[in-house]
Amino acid sequence: MTDHERGSGLAGDDDVPGAWHGFGMVRPRVRSEAHWTEEQEVIGPGLQAVMLLSRLCVADADGPEIVDLDGNRIIDFQGAGGVNSIGHAEPRFTAALAEELTRATAGAFGSPARLDMVRALRDFLPGDLDMIQLYSGGTEAVEAALRLAKSVTGKHEFLSFWGGFHGKTMGSLALTAGARSGLGPLPPGYFSAPYANCYHCPFKLRAPDCGFACVEHARDVIKENSTGALAAIVVEPVQGRSGNVVPPPGYLTALGEVAREFDALLIADEMMTGFGRTGAAFAHQHEKVRPDVLTVGKGMGGGYPVTGVIAAEQTMAAAPFSEPSASSSSFGAFPMACRAVASTTAILTEDKLVGNAAVRGREMLDQLADLTELAPLVGDVRGAGLALGIELVVDKRTHEPAPKSLVQRVYLKLLEAGVLVMLGGNTLRLYPPLNVDRTQTETAVGILRETLIGIGREG
Ligand SMILES: Cc1ncc(COP(=O)(O)O)c(C=O)c1O
Repeated sequence: MTDHERGSGLAGDDDVPGAWHGFGMVRPRVRSEAHWTEEQEVIGPGLQAVMLLSRLCVADADGPEIVDLDGNRIIDFQGAGGVNSIGHAEPRFTAALAEELTRATAGAFGSPARLDMVRALRDFLPGDLDMIQLYSGGTEAVEAALRLAKSVTGKHEFLSFWGGFHGKTMGSLALTAGARSGLGPLPPGYFSAPYANCYHCPFKLRAPDCGFACVEHARDVIKENSTGALAAIVVEPVQGRSGNVVPPPGYLTALGEVAREFDALLIADEMMTGFGRTGAAFAHQHEKVRPDVLTVGKGMGGGYPVTGVIAAEQTMAAAPFSEPSASSSSFGAFPMACRAVASTTAILTEDKLVGNAAVRGREMLDQLADLTELAPLVGDVRGAGLALGIELVVDKRTHEPAPKSLVQRVYLKLLEAGVLVMLGGNTLRLYPPLNVDRTQTETAVGILRETLIGIGREG
């Protein structure tokens, strides 16, 4: 029996020839192609690479599933890179937003939506990190966090990590090592150190026996580069762009100690990991570490563009950040954004989706783990909750990454078979919605297994 036959499957039109449980690109993509081509006459270049590759045009969506204009059903584990926390078209969410649209649509007034959001967040925010300022893009929230760190410390230097991603405006771009070629000059005072990416450890060591050599190195980077003005260390608790890299336990705590040594803040960029994605409300809570500032977004709005900076009251009180109009933005805390956060947080809480993310994520990791032996290209399978990574390599001994062309062929084969994933370098990144059920994950796992076991270097 093949993995396909074993998969439990969603209810679907199994009668479509070639479709497994009704999923996959089984109908010719005639309408989608015409639609995509017409759009591209006006849409500028530089769209997300996976969107350009897939050329998907979506007619309808429900939970973890999308249907393209030609009627092909696809399991969406790309999840807008972690945005899709409660699934497509969650009925309570759509009803709440539709109702909110009939009230004041513009203005950061006090509003029923804002009060509902505050009430929903009170129990959700971690410990004394209980104040939030809202924005509409991730990079905007990261920039605000940098301004906050400057306000608190009176300093202006930042340390970030190789493989990280924090956005594309000047401050966040300066934090994003390895992705700024051709975009200089960048602000001075930004330096970077290797992340705890154990599968590609630059020191060729193994955790936990390495004594966190990468943290020691980060300390040296600060000593060698800083003018004594380090404002913050900025780190993702799980690095998304480099393939959902999960550092060993204790890493964030060790970085927190380094930040203290230099009288600097620890900023945890929880844009992707926050609001339950990793099986804790916030990923830093897997450790006993208290960052000074969190940046959040993505899953927090269930698809509505809303992001935020979270900190304790005494941190937020620092000037100039705290002065009137100094930390606001045009769209920050508009009623629709607040309603989106209120509704998403209520659904996460009522349906216990943080726990579901932990359980489903562990099951998926177990079900995918042996691909490192069975699938010719799979070098590593990892994850935290429902942020999972399957790293493709051409040499399992040296961990030499699979080239881009091969990774793209694997991505398209998976799409053909019915699972849409996200890419990050040579890693397939999976972001199922946090309310995904076991039947749905097992169907996707079945497709992933069969496709990846069947694919070699020739693609
Ligand atoms: C950790 C992290 N920070 C910041 C950002 C930037 O967010 P945005 O694309 O909304 O500007 C992202 C986006 O992927 C992210 O993953």
